[in-house]
Amino acid sequence: MKFVFDSPIPDKITAMKQRVRWQDPLFVSRRINQTQIHIDDPQRDNPRFSFLFTGDTGYTTYQRNNPQRQVAQLMGEQQEEINFILHTGDVVYQVGSKEYYQPHFITPYQEFIVGKELGYQKITFDRPFLLVPGNHDYYNLPVFYGLLAQGVKPFRRFLPLPFAPDFGLQGSNDGNTYAQAFLDYTLELTPEALTQHLESHYTAKFQGEWCLNYQPYRFTRLPNRYYSFRYGGIDFFALDSNTFNAPDPQINSPEGVKIRQQLRNQLQELDWQYDQLIAKFEQLDIAVPQQQDLLADYQRQLQQIRNKKQDISRKLQGDKIAIDYEQLDWFKRKLISSWLDPQVRGRILYLHHSPYTTESTHGKQPETLEVRYHLRQVLNEVAQILKKPLEDRPLLDLVLSSHAHCLEHLYTNDTGSADSYINWLICGAGGNSVRRQYSNSTVVTEQRSGIKQQVAESRLFLGSRGEGMYQKKSYACVRIDVHPGDPPKFLIRPLIAEQAYHNWYHYQLDPFIL
Ligand SMILES: [Fe+2]
Repeated sequence: MKFVFDSPIPDKITAMKQRVRWQDPLFVSRRINQTQIHIDDPQRDNPRFSFLFTGDTGYTTYQRNNPQRQVAQLMGEQQEEINFILHTGDVVYQVGSKEYYQPHFITPYQEFIVGKELGYQKITFDRPFLLVPGNHDYYNLPVFYGLLAQGVKPFRRFLPLPFAPDFGLQGSNDGNTYAQAFLDYTLELTPEALTQHLESHYTAKFQGEWCLNYQPYRFTRLPNRYYSFRYGGIDFFALDSNTFNAPDPQINSPEGVKIRQQLRNQLQELDWQYDQLIAKFEQLDIAVPQQQDLLADYQRQLQQIRNKKQDISRKLQGDKIAIDYEQLDWFKRKLISSWLDPQVRGRILYLHHSPYTTESTHGKQPETLEVRYHLRQVLNEVAQILKKPLEDRPLLDLVLSSHAHCLEHLYTNDTGSADSYINWLICGAGGNSVRRQYSNSTVVTEQRSGIKQQVAESRLFLGSRGEGMYQKKSYACVRIDVHPGDPPKFLIRPLIAEQAYHNWYHYQLDPFIL
Protein backbone atom coordinates (compact mmCIF):
# COMPACT_ATOMS: atom_id res chain seq x y z
CA MET A 1 0.00 0.00 0.00
CA LYS A 2 1.52 3.29 -1.05
CA PHE A 3 0.47 6.14 1.21
CA VAL A 4 2.59 8.95 -0.11
CA PHE A 5 4.27 9.78 -3.36
CA ASP A 6 7.11 11.95 -4.46
CA SER A 7 6.94 13.90 -7.69
CA PRO A 8 9.68 13.62 -10.31
CA ILE A 9 12.58 15.99 -9.76
CA PRO A 10 11.76 18.32 -12.70
CA ASP A 11 8.27 18.88 -11.29
CA LYS A 12 9.69 19.89 -7.90
CA ILE A 13 12.17 22.28 -9.51
CA THR A 14 9.53 23.91 -11.70
CA ALA A 15 7.03 24.28 -8.87
CA MET A 16 9.59 25.86 -6.55
CA LYS A 17 10.78 28.29 -9.24
CA GLN A 18 7.23 29.52 -9.78
CA ARG A 19 6.72 30.14 -6.05
CA VAL A 20 9.71 32.48 -5.75
CA ARG A 21 9.26 34.01 -9.24
CA TRP A 22 12.69 32.70 -10.20
CA GLN A 23 14.39 35.09 -12.63
CA ASP A 24 11.23 37.12 -13.09
CA PRO A 25 12.04 40.24 -15.19
CA LEU A 26 11.36 42.40 -12.15
CA PHE A 27 14.13 40.61 -10.23
CA VAL A 28 16.49 40.51 -13.21
CA SER A 29 16.09 44.16 -14.20
CA ARG A 30 16.97 45.21 -10.64
CA ARG A 31 20.08 43.02 -10.58
CA ILE A 32 18.76 40.97 -7.66
CA ASN A 33 20.59 37.80 -6.69
CA GLN A 34 17.85 35.36 -5.63
CA THR A 35 20.23 32.99 -3.88
CA GLN A 36 22.00 35.36 -1.49
CA ILE A 37 20.95 36.52 1.97
CA HIS A 38 22.27 39.41 3.97
CA ILE A 39 21.78 38.78 7.69
CA ASP A 40 20.78 42.07 9.29
CA ASP A 41 22.68 41.58 12.54
CA PRO A 42 25.35 43.90 14.02
CA GLN A 43 27.31 40.79 15.05
CA ARG A 44 27.64 39.37 11.53
CA ASP A 45 31.27 40.50 11.10
CA ASN A 46 32.38 39.16 14.47
CA PRO A 47 34.64 36.12 13.83
CA ARG A 48 33.56 34.58 17.13
CA PHE A 49 29.96 33.38 17.02
CA SER A 50 27.73 30.42 17.86
CA PHE A 51 24.89 28.64 16.19
CA LEU A 52 22.61 25.66 16.74
CA PHE A 53 22.04 22.89 14.27
CA THR A 54 19.43 20.14 14.13
CA GLY A 55 17.18 18.31 11.67
CA ASP A 56 14.44 15.69 11.25
CA THR A 57 12.49 17.41 13.94
CA GLY A 58 8.91 16.39 13.39
CA TYR A 59 7.75 13.84 15.88
CA THR A 60 4.81 11.50 15.28
CA THR A 61 1.86 11.01 17.54
CA TYR A 62 2.98 7.46 18.31
CA GLN A 63 6.16 8.70 19.94
CA ARG A 64 5.62 9.11 23.61
CA ASN A 65 6.45 12.36 25.46
CA ASN A 66 7.14 14.43 22.37
CA PRO A 67 10.92 14.15 21.88
CA GLN A 68 10.86 17.15 19.56
CA ARG A 69 9.78 19.40 22.39
CA GLN A 70 12.52 17.98 24.64
CA VAL A 71 15.12 19.01 22.06
CA ALA A 72 13.39 22.35 21.51
CA GLN A 73 13.77 23.02 25.24
CA LEU A 74 17.51 22.36 24.96
CA MET A 75 17.60 24.82 22.08
CA GLY A 76 15.63 27.39 24.04
CA GLU A 77 18.18 27.24 26.86
CA GLN A 78 20.84 28.40 24.38
CA GLN A 79 18.71 31.18 22.96
CA GLU A 80 20.61 34.11 24.45
CA GLU A 81 24.03 32.80 23.45
CA ILE A 82 23.55 31.79 19.85
CA ASN A 83 23.49 33.95 16.74
CA PHE A 84 21.35 31.72 14.51
CA ILE A 85 19.90 28.26 13.96
CA LEU A 86 20.38 25.90 11.01
CA HIS A 87 17.68 23.32 10.32
CA THR A 88 18.57 20.59 7.84
CA GLY A 89 15.06 19.56 6.84
CA ASP A 90 12.23 17.12 7.36
CA VAL A 91 10.58 19.93 9.22
CA VAL A 92 7.06 18.53 9.42
CA TYR A 93 6.30 14.80 9.36
CA GLN A 94 4.78 12.78 7.75
CA VAL A 95 4.06 14.62 4.54
CA GLY A 96 4.51 18.33 5.27
CA SER A 97 0.75 18.91 5.68
CA LYS A 98 -0.23 22.45 6.55
CA GLU A 99 -2.41 21.20 9.41
CA TYR A 100 0.72 19.91 11.18
CA TYR A 101 2.81 23.09 11.04
CA GLN A 102 1.21 24.33 14.24
CA PRO A 103 1.73 21.20 16.41
CA HIS A 104 4.97 20.01 14.76
CA PHE A 105 6.81 23.28 14.23
CA ILE A 106 5.25 26.45 15.62
CA THR A 107 4.35 25.12 19.06
CA PRO A 108 7.62 23.19 19.68
CA TYR A 109 9.77 26.18 18.61
CA GLN A 110 7.54 28.84 20.11
CA GLU A 111 10.52 30.47 21.88
CA PHE A 112 11.96 31.45 18.50
CA ILE A 113 8.76 32.53 16.75
CA VAL A 114 7.16 35.95 16.82
CA GLY A 115 3.36 35.94 16.49
CA LYS A 116 3.05 32.19 16.87
CA GLU A 117 -0.74 32.43 16.73
CA LEU A 118 -0.70 33.80 13.18
CA GLY A 119 -0.31 30.48 11.40
CA TYR A 120 2.27 28.86 9.18
CA GLN A 121 2.13 31.45 6.40
CA LYS A 122 3.09 34.24 8.81
CA ILE A 123 6.02 32.64 10.63
CA THR A 124 8.58 35.24 11.69
CA PHE A 125 11.62 34.38 13.77
CA ASP A 126 13.31 36.34 16.54
CA ARG A 127 16.75 35.36 15.16
CA PRO A 128 17.85 33.78 11.89
CA PHE A 129 16.30 30.31 11.59
CA LEU A 130 17.68 29.04 8.31
CA LEU A 131 16.30 25.88 6.79
CA VAL A 132 16.61 23.56 3.83
CA PRO A 133 13.80 21.20 2.79
CA GLY A 134 13.88 17.47 3.52
CA ASN A 135 12.16 14.68 1.60
CA HIS A 136 9.15 14.73 3.93
CA ASP A 137 8.67 18.42 3.16
CA TYR A 138 8.10 17.50 -0.49
CA TYR A 139 5.78 14.49 -0.14
CA ASN A 140 2.28 14.33 -1.54
CA LEU A 141 -0.73 12.45 -0.28
CA PRO A 142 -3.52 11.09 -2.48
CA VAL A 143 -6.91 12.50 -1.50
CA PHE A 144 -8.21 9.06 -0.56
CA TYR A 145 -5.53 8.58 2.11
CA GLY A 146 -5.99 12.13 3.36
CA LEU A 147 -9.65 11.37 3.96
CA LEU A 148 -8.77 8.00 5.47
CA ALA A 149 -6.30 9.61 7.89
CA GLN A 150 -8.94 12.12 8.99
CA GLY A 151 -11.45 9.32 9.45
CA VAL A 152 -9.29 7.16 11.69
CA LYS A 153 -7.87 9.95 13.88
CA PRO A 154 -10.65 9.85 16.51
CA PHE A 155 -10.00 6.13 16.94
CA ARG A 156 -6.22 6.08 16.82
CA ARG A 157 -5.91 5.32 20.52
CA PHE A 158 -7.90 2.15 19.99
CA LEU A 159 -6.84 1.06 16.51
CA PRO A 160 -3.46 -0.55 15.88
CA LEU A 161 -2.73 1.36 12.66
CA PRO A 162 0.28 0.31 10.60
CA PHE A 163 1.25 3.97 10.19
CA ALA A 164 1.27 7.12 12.29
CA PRO A 165 -1.74 9.09 11.00
CA ASP A 166 0.03 12.45 11.06
CA PHE A 167 -1.46 13.49 7.75
CA GLY A 168 -3.62 16.40 6.89
CA LEU A 169 -6.14 16.27 4.09
CA GLN A 170 -3.27 16.82 1.68
CA GLY A 171 0.47 16.43 1.65
CA SER A 172 2.92 19.20 0.98
CA ASN A 173 1.83 19.63 -2.64
CA ASP A 174 5.40 19.30 -3.97
CA GLY A 175 6.77 21.48 -1.16
CA ASN A 176 4.17 24.22 -1.43
CA THR A 177 3.50 24.31 2.31
CA TYR A 178 7.22 24.53 3.09
CA ALA A 179 7.51 27.35 0.52
CA GLN A 180 4.58 29.23 2.04
CA ALA A 181 6.03 28.84 5.53
CA PHE A 182 9.67 29.73 4.89
CA LEU A 183 10.36 31.08 1.40
CA ASP A 184 9.70 34.52 -0.01
CA TYR A 185 6.51 33.35 -1.70
CA THR A 186 5.90 36.04 -4.30
CA LEU A 187 3.86 33.98 -6.75
CA GLU A 188 0.57 35.73 -6.08
CA LEU A 189 1.81 39.34 -5.98
CA THR A 190 0.74 41.76 -8.71
CA PRO A 191 3.60 43.52 -10.55
CA GLU A 192 2.95 46.66 -8.48
CA ALA A 193 2.93 44.73 -5.20
CA LEU A 194 6.07 42.84 -6.20
CA THR A 195 7.86 46.07 -7.05
CA GLN A 196 7.00 47.48 -3.65
CA HIS A 197 8.00 44.20 -1.99
CA LEU A 198 11.41 44.23 -3.67
CA GLU A 199 11.99 47.84 -2.67
CA SER A 200 11.19 46.93 0.94
CA HIS A 201 13.12 43.68 1.37
CA TYR A 202 15.81 43.34 -1.28
CA THR A 203 17.76 46.28 0.06
CA ALA A 204 21.17 44.77 0.85
CA LYS A 205 24.14 44.47 -1.47
CA PHE A 206 26.51 41.57 -1.94
CA GLN A 207 29.33 41.64 -4.49
CA GLY A 208 27.63 44.35 -6.55
CA GLU A 209 24.17 42.75 -6.63
CA TRP A 210 21.08 43.38 -4.54
CA CYS A 211 19.91 40.62 -2.23
CA LEU A 212 17.34 39.83 0.42
CA ASN A 213 17.78 41.61 3.73
CA TYR A 214 16.97 39.02 6.44
CA GLN A 215 15.67 40.94 9.45
CA PRO A 216 14.79 39.12 12.69
CA TYR A 217 11.38 40.16 14.08
CA ARG A 218 10.51 41.81 10.74
CA PHE A 219 11.20 39.73 7.67
CA THR A 220 12.66 36.24 7.96
CA ARG A 221 11.98 34.63 4.60
CA LEU A 222 14.47 32.75 2.44
CA PRO A 223 14.84 33.84 -1.18
CA ASN A 224 14.99 30.34 -2.61
CA ARG A 225 15.17 26.64 -1.67
CA TYR A 226 18.99 26.87 -1.96
CA TYR A 227 20.98 29.94 -1.00
CA SER A 228 24.12 31.30 0.60
CA PHE A 229 25.05 33.78 3.31
CA ARG A 230 28.22 35.04 4.99
CA TYR A 231 28.66 35.33 8.73
CA GLY A 232 31.84 36.03 10.70
CA GLY A 233 33.97 35.56 7.57
CA ILE A 234 32.49 32.10 6.90
CA ASP A 235 30.51 31.32 3.76
CA PHE A 236 27.49 29.11 4.41
CA PHE A 237 26.01 27.19 1.48
CA ALA A 238 22.49 25.72 1.81
CA LEU A 239 21.58 23.05 -0.76
CA ASP A 240 18.29 21.36 -1.56
CA SER A 241 19.46 17.76 -1.88
CA ASN A 242 15.99 16.51 -2.87
CA THR A 243 16.71 17.36 -6.47
CA PHE A 244 20.02 15.55 -6.85
CA ASN A 245 19.36 12.38 -4.87
CA ALA A 246 18.61 10.14 -7.86
CA PRO A 247 20.72 8.56 -10.58
CA ASP A 248 20.94 9.76 -14.12
CA PRO A 249 18.50 8.01 -16.46
CA GLN A 250 19.93 4.76 -17.74
CA ILE A 251 16.96 2.87 -19.05
CA ASN A 252 18.12 2.18 -22.55
CA SER A 253 21.51 0.63 -21.88
CA PRO A 254 21.87 -3.16 -21.26
CA GLU A 255 23.19 -2.29 -17.82
CA GLY A 256 20.10 -0.13 -17.21
CA VAL A 257 17.75 -3.01 -18.13
CA LYS A 258 19.60 -5.29 -15.70
CA ILE A 259 19.44 -2.74 -12.91
CA ARG A 260 15.74 -2.17 -13.42
CA GLN A 261 15.06 -5.90 -13.19
CA GLN A 262 17.04 -6.05 -9.95
CA LEU A 263 15.01 -3.16 -8.60
CA ARG A 264 11.73 -4.88 -9.48
CA ASN A 265 12.94 -8.00 -7.67
CA GLN A 266 13.81 -5.93 -4.60
CA LEU A 267 10.35 -4.38 -4.73
CA GLN A 268 8.73 -7.82 -4.75
CA GLU A 269 10.85 -8.91 -1.79
CA LEU A 270 9.86 -5.80 0.14
CA ASP A 271 6.18 -6.40 -0.65
CA TRP A 272 6.52 -9.89 0.80
CA GLN A 273 8.26 -8.57 3.95
CA TYR A 274 5.58 -5.94 4.34
CA ASP A 275 2.76 -8.49 4.15
CA GLN A 276 4.52 -10.71 6.72
CA LEU A 277 4.88 -7.81 9.12
CA ILE A 278 1.30 -6.69 8.65
CA ALA A 279 0.15 -10.23 9.52
CA LYS A 280 2.14 -10.10 12.78
CA PHE A 281 1.00 -6.58 13.44
CA GLU A 282 -2.64 -7.53 13.21
CA GLN A 283 -2.17 -10.11 15.95
CA LEU A 284 -1.32 -7.42 18.48
CA ASP A 285 -3.77 -5.87 20.87
CA ILE A 286 -3.25 -2.16 21.48
CA ALA A 287 -5.12 -2.42 24.79
CA VAL A 288 -2.37 -4.62 26.26
CA PRO A 289 0.35 -2.30 27.64
CA GLN A 290 3.09 -4.93 27.22
CA GLN A 291 2.40 -5.06 23.49
CA GLN A 292 2.60 -1.32 22.88
CA ASP A 293 6.39 -1.19 22.45
CA LEU A 294 6.19 -4.06 19.98
CA LEU A 295 3.43 -2.25 18.17
CA ALA A 296 5.60 0.87 17.86
CA ASP A 297 8.49 -1.29 16.71
CA TYR A 298 6.38 -2.88 13.95
CA GLN A 299 5.15 0.55 12.90
CA ARG A 300 8.75 1.68 12.61
CA GLN A 301 9.71 -1.36 10.55
CA LEU A 302 6.71 -0.91 8.29
CA GLN A 303 7.63 2.72 7.78
CA GLN A 304 11.17 1.71 6.87
CA ILE A 305 9.90 -0.75 4.27
CA ARG A 306 7.62 1.91 2.81
CA ASN A 307 10.58 4.30 2.58
CA LYS A 308 12.69 1.68 0.81
CA LYS A 309 9.88 0.93 -1.63
CA GLN A 310 9.58 4.60 -2.37
CA ASP A 311 13.31 4.91 -3.09
CA ILE A 312 13.11 2.02 -5.52
CA SER A 313 9.98 3.34 -7.19
CA ARG A 314 11.78 6.61 -7.75
CA LYS A 315 14.66 4.82 -9.41
CA LEU A 316 12.22 2.94 -11.61
CA GLN A 317 10.78 6.21 -12.83
CA GLY A 318 13.97 6.29 -14.84
CA ASP A 319 13.14 8.38 -17.82
CA LYS A 320 11.47 11.02 -15.70
CA ILE A 321 14.50 11.69 -13.54
CA ALA A 322 16.62 14.69 -14.38
CA ILE A 323 19.24 15.87 -11.98
CA ASP A 324 19.25 19.47 -10.79
CA TYR A 325 22.45 20.50 -12.54
CA GLU A 326 21.41 24.15 -12.35
CA GLN A 327 21.71 24.04 -8.56
CA LEU A 328 24.90 21.97 -8.60
CA ASP A 329 26.43 24.39 -11.08
CA TRP A 330 25.44 27.29 -8.83
CA PHE A 331 27.18 25.60 -5.89
CA LYS A 332 30.29 25.02 -7.97
CA ARG A 333 30.47 28.68 -8.98
CA LYS A 334 29.80 29.89 -5.43
CA LEU A 335 32.47 27.64 -3.96
CA ILE A 336 35.10 28.73 -6.47
CA SER A 337 34.22 32.38 -5.90
CA SER A 338 34.42 31.84 -2.14
CA TRP A 339 37.91 30.34 -2.44
CA LEU A 340 39.06 33.27 -4.56
CA ASP A 341 37.80 35.84 -2.05
CA PRO A 342 40.51 36.75 0.51
CA GLN A 343 37.85 37.98 2.95
CA VAL A 344 36.51 34.45 3.42
CA ARG A 345 38.20 32.27 6.04
CA GLY A 346 35.96 29.19 6.02
CA ARG A 347 33.20 27.31 4.26
CA ILE A 348 30.29 25.31 5.69
CA LEU A 349 27.81 23.33 3.62
CA TYR A 350 24.42 22.20 4.93
CA LEU A 351 21.88 19.98 3.22
CA HIS A 352 19.27 17.39 4.15
CA HIS A 353 20.65 14.06 2.89
CA SER A 354 23.82 12.85 4.60
CA PRO A 355 26.34 11.80 1.96
CA TYR A 356 28.06 9.56 4.53
CA THR A 357 26.54 7.81 7.55
CA THR A 358 26.66 4.49 9.39
CA GLU A 359 23.04 4.81 10.56
CA SER A 360 21.46 1.45 9.82
CA THR A 361 18.45 2.47 7.74
CA HIS A 362 19.98 5.25 5.64
CA GLY A 363 23.67 4.35 5.29
CA LYS A 364 23.30 2.28 2.14
CA GLN A 365 20.18 3.83 0.65
CA PRO A 366 20.48 4.58 -3.06
CA GLU A 367 19.78 8.25 -2.46
CA THR A 368 22.63 8.50 0.07
CA LEU A 369 25.01 7.19 -2.57
CA GLU A 370 23.55 9.43 -5.27
CA VAL A 371 23.91 12.58 -3.16
CA ARG A 372 27.50 11.56 -2.36
CA TYR A 373 28.17 10.96 -6.06
CA HIS A 374 26.75 14.29 -7.26
CA LEU A 375 28.46 16.26 -4.49
CA ARG A 376 31.75 14.62 -5.38
CA GLN A 377 31.41 15.60 -9.01
CA VAL A 378 31.05 19.25 -7.99
CA LEU A 379 33.96 19.13 -5.56
CA ASN A 380 36.15 17.34 -8.11
CA GLU A 381 35.49 20.07 -10.66
CA VAL A 382 36.20 22.80 -8.09
CA ALA A 383 39.46 21.13 -7.03
CA GLN A 384 40.53 20.81 -10.64
CA ILE A 385 40.00 24.52 -11.24
CA LEU A 386 41.57 25.69 -7.97
CA LYS A 387 44.47 23.18 -8.17
CA LYS A 388 44.68 23.01 -4.37
CA PRO A 389 46.34 20.25 -2.36
CA LEU A 390 43.44 18.88 -0.31
CA GLU A 391 45.70 17.36 2.35
CA ASP A 392 46.55 20.88 3.53
CA ARG A 393 42.99 22.15 3.59
CA PRO A 394 39.78 20.47 2.40
CA LEU A 395 37.39 22.34 0.13
CA LEU A 396 34.80 22.47 2.92
CA ASP A 397 35.58 22.95 6.60
CA LEU A 398 32.37 21.30 7.73
CA VAL A 399 29.33 19.59 6.20
CA LEU A 400 26.10 19.50 8.23
CA SER A 401 23.18 17.23 7.37
CA SER A 402 20.47 14.96 8.73
CA HIS A 403 18.05 12.43 7.09
CA ALA A 404 20.00 9.76 9.01
CA HIS A 405 18.16 9.69 12.34
CA CYS A 406 21.09 9.98 14.69
CA LEU A 407 23.86 12.19 15.94
CA GLU A 408 27.07 11.30 14.14
CA HIS A 409 30.50 12.69 13.34
CA LEU A 410 32.38 11.16 10.42
CA TYR A 411 35.67 11.99 8.82
CA THR A 412 36.52 11.12 5.23
CA ASN A 413 39.92 9.64 4.49
CA ASP A 414 41.32 9.68 1.00
CA THR A 415 38.19 8.86 -0.99
CA GLY A 416 39.87 9.20 -4.35
CA SER A 417 37.77 12.35 -4.85
CA ALA A 418 37.76 15.94 -3.65
CA ASP A 419 35.48 15.12 -0.71
CA SER A 420 38.53 13.76 1.14
CA TYR A 421 39.66 14.99 4.58
CA ILE A 422 36.32 16.59 5.45
CA ASN A 423 34.44 16.56 8.77
CA TRP A 424 30.79 15.54 8.36
CA LEU A 425 28.40 16.23 11.20
CA ILE A 426 24.93 14.70 11.24
CA CYS A 427 22.09 15.69 13.54
CA GLY A 428 18.93 13.97 12.36
CA ALA A 429 17.88 13.37 15.94
CA GLY A 430 15.80 16.51 16.42
CA GLY A 431 12.55 14.70 17.24
CA ASN A 432 11.63 11.90 14.88
CA SER A 433 12.44 8.33 15.89
CA VAL A 434 16.17 7.78 16.30
CA ARG A 435 17.84 4.73 14.76
CA ARG A 436 20.70 2.36 15.45
CA GLN A 437 24.17 2.20 14.01
CA TYR A 438 25.12 -0.73 11.78
CA SER A 439 25.82 -3.53 14.21
CA ASN A 440 29.19 -4.56 12.86
CA SER A 441 30.78 -1.52 11.33
CA THR A 442 31.74 2.03 12.14
CA VAL A 443 33.32 2.69 8.77
CA VAL A 444 31.99 3.45 5.29
CA THR A 445 33.53 1.41 2.52
CA GLU A 446 33.42 1.48 -1.26
CA GLN A 447 34.62 -0.77 -4.05
CA ARG A 448 37.49 0.92 -5.87
CA SER A 449 39.16 -0.95 -8.72
CA GLY A 450 37.55 -4.13 -7.42
CA ILE A 451 38.95 -3.67 -3.92
CA LYS A 452 36.93 -2.78 -0.85
CA GLN A 453 38.34 0.39 0.65
CA GLN A 454 37.46 2.48 3.66
CA VAL A 455 36.41 6.00 2.66
CA ALA A 456 35.05 7.34 5.95
CA GLU A 457 35.16 6.54 9.63
CA SER A 458 32.49 7.26 12.20
CA ARG A 459 34.05 8.92 15.26
CA LEU A 460 30.89 9.51 17.26
CA PHE A 461 27.45 7.93 17.04
CA LEU A 462 24.41 8.33 19.22
CA GLY A 463 20.89 7.17 18.40
CA SER A 464 18.92 4.17 19.57
CA ARG A 465 20.65 1.39 21.51
CA GLY A 466 19.78 -1.45 23.89
CA GLU A 467 16.67 -3.60 23.86
CA GLY A 468 13.32 -3.71 25.61
CA MET A 469 13.28 -1.95 28.95
CA TYR A 470 17.01 -1.23 28.55
CA GLN A 471 16.55 0.64 25.31
CA LYS A 472 17.86 4.20 25.23
CA LYS A 473 16.99 6.80 22.64
CA SER A 474 19.13 9.91 22.31
CA TYR A 475 17.62 12.96 20.65
CA ALA A 476 19.84 15.94 20.04
CA CYS A 477 20.79 19.32 18.74
CA VAL A 478 24.33 20.61 18.37
CA ARG A 479 25.76 23.94 19.42
CA ILE A 480 28.74 25.01 17.33
CA ASP A 481 31.03 27.76 18.58
CA VAL A 482 33.09 29.25 15.76
CA HIS A 483 36.47 30.62 16.77
CA PRO A 484 38.46 33.37 15.02
CA GLY A 485 41.29 32.34 12.70
CA ASP A 486 41.94 30.98 9.25
CA PRO A 487 41.20 28.14 8.99
CA PRO A 488 38.52 28.48 11.65
CA LYS A 489 38.21 26.10 14.58
CA PHE A 490 34.82 24.80 15.64
CA LEU A 491 33.93 23.78 19.18
CA ILE A 492 31.25 21.09 18.79
CA ARG A 493 28.90 20.79 21.76
CA PRO A 494 26.25 18.03 21.39
CA LEU A 495 23.19 18.65 23.59
CA ILE A 496 21.29 15.48 24.38
CA ALA A 497 17.74 14.67 25.50
CA GLU A 498 17.77 10.96 26.29
CA GLN A 499 14.76 8.76 26.85
CA ALA A 500 15.57 5.81 29.10
CA TYR A 501 13.71 3.82 31.70
CA HIS A 502 10.55 5.87 30.96
CA ASN A 503 12.32 9.09 31.93
CA TRP A 504 14.07 11.95 30.20
CA TYR A 505 17.65 12.92 30.93
CA HIS A 506 19.18 16.12 29.57
CA TYR A 507 22.96 16.33 29.35
CA GLN A 508 25.86 17.53 27.20
CA LEU A 509 28.44 15.26 25.61
CA ASP A 510 32.06 16.31 26.06
CA PRO A 511 32.72 19.10 23.57
CA PHE A 512 35.35 18.53 20.90
CA ILE A 513 37.26 20.73 18.51
CA LEU A 514 37.26 20.32 14.73
FE1 LIG B 1 14.69 12.71 5.39
